[in-house]
Amino acid sequence: MVKLLGISGSLRAASYNTGLLRAAEGLASDALTIDAATLHGIPLYDGDVEARDGVPAAVEALKARILASDGLLLFTPEYNNGIPGVFKNAIDWLSRPGSGIPALFGDRPVAVAGASPGGFGTILAQTAWLPVLRMLGCRHWSGGRLLVSRAGQAFADDGTLQDEKAREQLGTFVQGFAAHIRETR
Ligand SMILES: Cc1cc2nc3c(=O)[nH]c(=O)nc-3n(C[C@H](O)[C@H](O)[C@H](O)COP(=O)(O)O)c2cc1C
Repeated sequence: MVKLLGISGSLRAASYNTGLLRAAEGLASDALTIDAATLHGIPLYDGDVEARDGVPAAVEALKARILASDGLLLFTPEYNNGIPGVFKNAIDWLSRPGSGIPALFGDRPVAVAGASPGGFGTILAQTAWLPVLRMLGCRHWSGGRLLVSRAGQAFADDGTLQDEKAREQLGTFVQGFAAHIRETR
């Protein structure tokens, strides 16, 4: 059994990236579980808040879910050719205190995918994740790629992934990532 945790980096109810995450959940089988997380409830990182109150409960809860997983699927939107602040902020909280980084992220398999309305399907945001994953010591899986472009057509208005080709590509991507985890543990 491979246990994946999928995280959507968008708070939008009809988010394309949350739609990808929901479609990925549907790929669960006897050999694969996919737990779905969003970033609602995670406050902006503030070093004073951390010094006074410690790491927020919402962040600790997400840490526990990461620790219980065999690998992470990050569904990233692209904002201004980079990682949206909401997603980077969550990772910044998750990286505190820094002494916890090796247990949480060290050698943890991570795959990055995303969807955007434009023609390049988050390619630059996905690339922008690489130095962050390297800093955290994650094992980035580069055996597949999932860039859902023209998302306005690929998704229904409520965020459901309706494009058959994109659904197939998602399946190939997620199964490829799960197979990598199986082969390397
Ligand atoms: C501040 C901002 C910047 C954006 N910059 C980009 C961009 O650089 N590249 C891109 O493909 N889409 C860009 N977009 C459009 C997003 O891809 C689009 O809003 C998408 O729906 C966000 O993902 P979501 O549907 O999961 O919320 C931007 C949107 C916002 C709000």
